[in-house]
Amino acid sequence: MSDVKPHVYVFDAYGTLFDVHAAIARHRAAAGPDADRLSEIWRLKQLEYSWTLTLAGRYLDFWTLTERALDYAFARVPSVDRALRPKLLEAYLTLDAYPDARAALIALKARGLSTAILSNGSPRMLGAAVEASGMTGLLDAVLSVDALHAYKPRPEIYALVTDRFGISPDHVVFVSSNRWDVMGAAAFGFRPLWVNRTRMPDEYAEQPPLRVVPDLSIVASLSF
Ligand code: LAC
Repeated sequence: MSDVKPHVYVFDAYGTLFDVHAAIARHRAAAGPDADRLSEIWRLKQLEYSWTLTLAGRYLDFWTLTERALDYAFARVPSVDRALRPKLLEAYLTLDAYPDARAALIALKARGLSTAILSNGSPRMLGAAVEASGMTGLLDAVLSVDALHAYKPRPEIYALVTDRFGISPDHVVFVSSNRWDVMGAAAFGFRPLWVNRTRMPDEYAEQPPLRVVPDLSIVASLSF
């Protein structure tokens, strides 16, 4: 491990700063008993489409994938009323941030560090979520894969960070709750932190996180 001090803390957006299941949580009563199953399928298909299209050399923006994944989830879980579609999509645009997300960014800025988002989200989605959660002044950059028309974990996506800040990968602490995203960040040479809120088993043994944290509350106090 390098002695270089990290300058930039980069966060994944969906699942890390923003709770992807917050959309269904706002409409749980109307969605009924299969609400969580719908939300799980929605998220899994959204990610699967990002990987399969990238492998095929094709691209549709993350909003389109989010809409199509929701349509698939409705088809798989017919007990949930499709009339909720516009409400769930609207809620997804302004997802709730995790309660510890804003405080982590504030603490990092207080240490004089740079902060950024690197996300699959389209610029419009990220702009809406960042504004709704009051994070606008707390981020030095909001970087979207849309600039390259491919998705994580392609290495050129992680290079958006090093290009933007003019630094080498070992200057970057990369924070994600998605273990596959930690794998991609480790392979690129970032210092990855895995936020394992739901105590998932570890994967990708060859690309481990530098640390595993239960939430974002201690991220700013870790030293490297
Ligand atoms: C993102 C995906 C991983 O925000 O949710 O990039």
